Amino acid sequence: MKEYTKWCLVLCVLGSANCYVSTMPNNYDTIVVGLGSAGVTAASTLANAGRRVLALEAQDRIGGRVMTVPFGDGVVEVGAEWIHGTEGSRVYQTAIQNNVSVLPQDLSFQVYMSDGSLGNKELVNELIEFCLQTVEKPPEKPEPLGKFITRQLMKYINDKHPELLNEKDFIAEFLEMMNLLINNYEASNDWNDVSVQTNYEELAGHQHTSWHRHGYKTFFEILLNTYNNGTGLPTLDIELNKEVTLIKWPKNTTGKVQVVCKDGDVYTASNVIVTVSLGVLKERHSHLFLPSLPQEKITIIEKMSIGVMDKVILNFEKQWLPNGSFFGFIWKGEDKKKLSNDDYWTTRIFGVSTPMGSKTALTFWTSGDVGKMVETLPEDVVKRKVMELLRKFMGKNMTIPEPTDMIRSTWFSNPFTRGSYTHDNLLMHEYPNARAILGEPLVDDSGAPKVLFAGEATDLTHFSTVHGASDSGFREAMRLLPSSKV
Ligand SMILES: Cc1cc2nc3c(=O)[nH]c(=O)nc-3n(C[C@H](O)[C@H](O)[C@H](O)COP(=O)(O)OP(=O)(O)OC[C@H]3O[C@@H](n4cnc5c(N)ncnc54)[C@H](O)[C@@H]3O)c2cc1C
Ligand SMILES: *[C@@H]1O[C@H](CO)[C@@H](O)[C@H](O)[C@H]1NC(C)=O
Ligand SMILES: *[C@@H]1O[C@H](CO)[C@@H](O)[C@H](O)[C@H]1NC(C)=O
Ligand SMILES: *[C@@H]1O[C@H](CO)[C@@H](O)[C@H](O)[C@H]1NC(C)=O
Ligand SMILES: *[C@@H]1O[C@H](CO)[C@@H](O)[C@H](O)[C@H]1NC(C)=O
Ligand SMILES: *[C@@H]1O[C@H](CO)[C@@H](O)[C@H](O)[C@H]1NC(C)=O
Repeated sequence: MKEYTKWCLVLCVLGSANCYVSTMPNNYDTIVVGLGSAGVTAASTLANAGRRVLALEAQDRIGGRVMTVPFGDGVVEVGAEWIHGTEGSRVYQTAIQNNVSVLPQDLSFQVYMSDGSLGNKELVNELIEFCLQTVEKPPEKPEPLGKFITRQLMKYINDKHPELLNEKDFIAEFLEMMNLLINNYEASNDWNDVSVQTNYEELAGHQHTSWHRHGYKTFFEILLNTYNNGTGLPTLDIELNKEVTLIKWPKNTTGKVQVVCKDGDVYTASNVIVTVSLGVLKERHSHLFLPSLPQEKITIIEKMSIGVMDKVILNFEKQWLPNGSFFGFIWKGEDKKKLSNDDYWTTRIFGVSTPMGSKTALTFWTSGDVGKMVETLPEDVVKRKVMELLRKFMGKNMTIPEPTDMIRSTWFSNPFTRGSYTHDNLLMHEYPNARAILGEPLVDDSGAPKVLFAGEATDLTHFSTVHGASDSGFREAMRLLPSSKV
């Protein structure tokens, strides 16, 4: 606790009724709203350069869409799971420079069919590989991702596996599974809602590096100097459970920025960095900023998409599957037809994986509208139905035990995320500079940046990732620092 907080308490005790608000310190350089990857990077970069920073986080924890929880015999990741690519990744560098081992995870599929038989693993992995590679060479004209992949895959099958052309059912069900796999990558509801053309760039290096038993949260502990009993950063104050409800900024004038919290506290600073998700901006922008945002930014907030990707994670008494493996599920048309409408959602879970951080846990992957719906179902229904699914696909030669515990993500219901991450939708061709506009600062009359924007959605090429979010936080911190200070 910092000096002035103590002073405030003393003053309050002495009896002045509204002293709490009026004695709030006004001496911060920057207020950072939100402590996810972008906010923690921005706050720690500024604090390391000697700036006085206040970070306000609405939830009771640091991390945002990174959420490591103790579960099973270790930890599981309810949000981000992997470091996607290593070269030039601030996240990977942070781990390596601090001697925290991170491990690559092999995500090739073991394939199970809905009648309990083993699928053709080599073939399915080859087809998946083809689909993922073909999108790296998009067509000249904009097109929905699914349409493009389907067309390319049919050509490939024609050339390389003509014998499959008779297996229309298999092709249809493989495409359905591929759709789900893409939806999990993109947090989309359907692969035809995603544009095949995108500015997204993969970082080189292994695409699925795991923090395993350390947990992704270690990234934040290192940045904030709380790892290994570190004592934090001297010029950074952190307030959890502090929901920001209003940001007043000087438009056509100069002066400080005022940040109002739900509990009535008001803080001022020279400037503020807002890192809330696109989902939160969509829901709140009209009453979060005073004066309101410029129309250009509002249009972008409305046109861009943030989708849903969710996990259901079970724990078992002991390990019964190898850790760090992926099991893909492919339905047979006739099995799907037998399902009741109520069970349709279980066909939108494309597989299960065993996380690297806990040997006894198992993760089911869902996305889109089904993901949203699963967030609202009763716990016991979700648990029972995913177990039925698991036994249908993997129970033929194994006795699958009952789970002891379940945890599921609620990234859409969570008022402080309202979605999982952004993707480029079919409107991106009309708004090619959308992410840059979203990230533009609001300036005062003298041209000084007053409200700055960071977060996954504002990164031009690495959006939807932890490293992209971190880069965006660094970008905005640098906007406020002479480069020699870092
Ligand atoms: C299920 C899932 C899996 C993912 N998997 C991966 C992966 O494997 N690899 C990868 O690189 N990325 C992955 N991602 C994406 C990655 O997690 C995000 O891109 C990244 O964490 C976003 O960071 P951010 O700082 O932009 O936003 P956030 O993490 O959302 O941070 C914003 C913060 O602002 C806070 N906030 C919101 N409103 C307010 C308010 N009014 N007042 C104060 N605070 C507020 C929020 O509580 C939050 O802490 C995944 C995401 C999800 C949901
Ligand atoms: C990491 O390990 C190396 C070699 O053992 C050591 O020199 C270095 O100080 C360590 N770094 C940190 C941050 O612990
Ligand atoms: C089950 O075991 C039989 C006999 O060992 C084997 O042929 C079959 O592929 C196995 N099925 C699965 C789903 O593992
Ligand atoms: C951190 O502090 C705890 C409690 O004092 C101690 O048990 C632990 O060994 C310390 N860890 C490190 C890495 O210093
Ligand atoms: C603020 O400035 C803009 C552009 O400089 C101008 O168009 C607008 O009328 C001004 N608004 C007010 C309230 O002064
Ligand atoms: C399981 O975890 C261990 C480390 O705990 C690792 O060496 C091994 O490769 C993992 N297995 C798989 C299949 O990833």
